[in-house]
Amino acid sequence: MILRKKLIAGNWKMNKTPAEALAPAQEIAVAVGKQPDVDVVICPPFTALTTVAPVLDGTLVKLGAQNMHPEASGAFTGEISAPMLRAFFATHVILGHSERRSYFGETDAFINQKVLAAFKNQLRPILCVGETLAERESGSTLKVVQTQTEKGLEGVSKDQAPGLIVAYEPVWAIGTGKVATTEQAQEVHAFIRDLLTKLFGEAAAQKVRILYGGSMKPANAPELLAQKDIDGGLIGGASLESRSFTELVKTAAAAK
Ligand code: PGA
Repeated sequence: MILRKKLIAGNWKMNKTPAEALAPAQEIAVAVGKQPDVDVVICPPFTALTTVAPVLDGTLVKLGAQNMHPEASGAFTGEISAPMLRAFFATHVILGHSERRSYFGETDAFINQKVLAAFKNQLRPILCVGETLAERESGSTLKVVQTQTEKGLEGVSKDQAPGLIVAYEPVWAIGTGKVATTEQAQEVHAFIRDLLTKLFGEAAAQKVRILYGGSMKPANAPELLAQKDIDGGLIGGASLESRSFTELVKTAAAAK
């Protein structure tokens, strides 16, 4: 069995000016910037990449963005491209977050273009999938996750697949304090792993990290991270304070 290194990613969403981002980034770099046991990524808003990038330079903490446009440049007012992110030495990008899907109308086809663009530009995509409460209650969770995963990954090659990161984020658990039970989460994670096996083969699928996201915090993380197919977390609220975020990294290190 392949031992997947756990990954803890902080999604700061639309929080923190460049100046406000400085102290938490420094605190995270000091607290976990040298630990090799867990991959750590922080995803500040675009404007704060300017201040966070130099702080992470020379540490093991990686820089990520929360979104990007699939094209490299052109007339796309208000958008940011993969080469622009690479210029800040970003290594990861969150794609298809449920807030992008629901508030900005992002479709699976558009998200798929971004995933392909990320690979093309040496950025690791963190593809987010997950069902709404209504979808869970109507019994369509697995069908929704299957569609989002398969459509989001169309055209990704077997060689690229091990670099992929998937985040299962039940929409009803995001920012609500309602965390999925370990059984609910593990069931969907194992289902995603099976889908990846069908798409890319066993060896590649075993290397993909599948993160859980949705009200993960230090109190509920140990149980979630102990599940066979839960390889880390995509953390929103609890990533805004360096203390809870670094605690989550330490929990992941202990959950090996
Ligand atoms: P949350 O957000 O941890 O605040 O629930 C997770 C996410 O949206 O990625």
